[in-house]
Amino acid sequence: MRKSLCFILLLLFVCALYAQEKKVFFPKKNLTTVGAYYYPEHWDESQWDRDLQKMSEMGFEFTHFAEFAWAQLEPEEGKYDFAWLDKAVTLAAKHNLKVILCTSTATPPVWLTRKHPEILIKNENGTTTDHGSRQHASFSSTFYRQYSLKMISELAKRYGKDTRVIGWQLDNEPGVRQDFNEDALLRFRSFLRNKYNNNIQELNKTWGTAFWSQIYSSFDQINFPLPSNWGQNPHQMLDFRRFNAYQTASFLDEQAAEIRKFSNPDQWITSNYIPDYQAGHIGLSKLFDFYSYTRYIVSGGLGIGQKGYRIGDPMLIPFANDFFRPIGGIYGVMELQPGQVNWGSINPQPYPGAVRLWLWSVFAGGSDFTCTYRFRQPIYGDEQYHAGIVGTDGVTPSRGGLEYQQFIKDIAKLRKEYNAKATQPATYVKRKTAILYNVDNTWSMSKQKQTQEWNTDSHIQKYYKPLKSFGAPVDVINESADWSKYPVLIAPAYQLVDDQLIEKWTTYAKQGGHLILTCRSGQKDRSDRLFELPFGGKIADLIGAKMDFFDLLVPSDPGAVSLNGKNYPWVSWGEVFTPEAQTEVWGSYVNDFYAGKAAVLHRTLGKGSITYVGVDSRDGSLEKEVLKRVYALNNTSLLDLPEGVWMEYRDGFGIAVNYGPVAFDFPLNDKAKVLVGEKQIPTAGVLVWKE
Ligand code: GAL
Repeated sequence: MRKSLCFILLLLFVCALYAQEKKVFFPKKNLTTVGAYYYPEHWDESQWDRDLQKMSEMGFEFTHFAEFAWAQLEPEEGKYDFAWLDKAVTLAAKHNLKVILCTSTATPPVWLTRKHPEILIKNENGTTTDHGSRQHASFSSTFYRQYSLKMISELAKRYGKDTRVIGWQLDNEPGVRQDFNEDALLRFRSFLRNKYNNNIQELNKTWGTAFWSQIYSSFDQINFPLPSNWGQNPHQMLDFRRFNAYQTASFLDEQAAEIRKFSNPDQWITSNYIPDYQAGHIGLSKLFDFYSYTRYIVSGGLGIGQKGYRIGDPMLIPFANDFFRPIGGIYGVMELQPGQVNWGSINPQPYPGAVRLWLWSVFAGGSDFTCTYRFRQPIYGDEQYHAGIVGTDGVTPSRGGLEYQQFIKDIAKLRKEYNAKATQPATYVKRKTAILYNVDNTWSMSKQKQTQEWNTDSHIQKYYKPLKSFGAPVDVINESADWSKYPVLIAPAYQLVDDQLIEKWTTYAKQGGHLILTCRSGQKDRSDRLFELPFGGKIADLIGAKMDFFDLLVPSDPGAVSLNGKNYPWVSWGEVFTPEAQTEVWGSYVNDFYAGKAAVLHRTLGKGSITYVGVDSRDGSLEKEVLKRVYALNNTSLLDLPEGVWMEYRDGFGIAVNYGPVAFDFPLNDKAKVLVGEKQIPTAGVLVWKE
């Protein structure tokens, strides 16, 4: 009896271990894996074997099928054709390529659209989208959801237990739309009923409908906030944005739940998000295993210096890394540009080495995979001028393709050097910083900017960019995260607050954290209403100062704040304070009728401190100075990397990249063993080392 009990316990233990092991989707020792999109349905069947063989020979380890193939998977309602996909999966396996499958919902077939035109997205002005493109169906449409789930169910039954399939990407770059479709309106009303406990008076109160005689007596009277001659109700707008984000998130969760009914636990589920941080849906779906993103770096924007447009903005990849990684603990990049794109304002050739630089940039953040969009350059359709890993002849590797190959070879080298016990250098860990982000703040400020000079994203970047120049690891986190592992926490322009959050900020500082709050913080409650207190009064005790007023300047008459003996120009937002006796004034206004008054405040609180930066400087140099001062208080040693150069550590490897116009001599530790590149990092170059 006792023996059999022991046996059962042992069995349970082994099963638990196995289950845990299975959940490790990407074995650490592989560091990362690289794949490429392939659309079998775009090419003659006779070429599939050749193409997948080529992909494999170039070092790719997985491929990606069926993304926009609903019409091929379900050519007629209820009639499914998996023969072609079976064949493609078999060929992929023959060439040792694992497969990611996609749910194809971005391209409903014409039979569905013609049968139920009500699935189409309706624009603000009442026009609708139509068949012939993609992403034209409304996520709120009940028919569209039903038909999607039916198709997904068949797909999952067919491939959910297939060990050649490693994971699922739902839809394609699911975005958040302001969709005025009829079903969306019904769903909006039920979203509000649910939120306001079916009590219209609760909604009236929260939305402040006493203003301009907006009072509702029933939820059925509520419409979408359409543009009007005067402003829209900001509280209604906030709920509308929340609703729209939720529509996307809930549709994806429904898809994930359908797949899970049939899939093995070791098949993961994610989607490929455009890093549109202001949309509010990233992180909102609850059934994902992790979040992945797509990134196109060179598409007409300017980088640093004359040729920077060929390399791109150096912060695009690291910020996405730092935003996506903390959501699920792991992340990958589902689409990375292999060369020229076709849809940018200008589509230049990337700088030699830039494609490889982006691959290393993705890797540096700790990612588990990168997939490139796409293997073959299309020769028909909307994306004819879009580069692939191979060119229009289907066989010749592009410049970008060769850079992928190089990266894959270098990763093979790193895999041999991998040491599971390696730790990150203590100096790096000590710089660990979190940025607190809640999209409600962005929405609220975009509705009531108060000055066209205000830009929430660039305000956040004024803190993020210096952090990268210091060599600080950053996590963008939310309010429910554990903040205790971050010596410094920055909450930029955190406009909407409640008592619970203020309490959490207070505790964080008391326990030794250094909290940095910036202008516009704490002004409103979660419904976007100002507090019935002196303006800014909600956080007056926390920051140790009373706000007298805020000012907004015209660009032709900038002000300045003096800090550490230097003047920093500002225009967009300046708050003027009267500090309490024990609060230090770090920065004060130089001009105007409030010259000499406080702009930047600092106070100790318990074992930590609170710094309040009441001004948004023009170029971010004031923010950098403030940050330096806070880290100095915490005895943290910082790097001083030039613009365009940044570094990270992962799995025992240091990675430094250079997006700047001049070569940079990286301050390498004597013990470091260089594995890729050289100590002097050229433009678009990379240095990888092991310590
Ligand atoms: C992405 C999209 C892909 C493809 C690519 C072209 O935004 O997800 O399907 O269209 O752009 O660069």
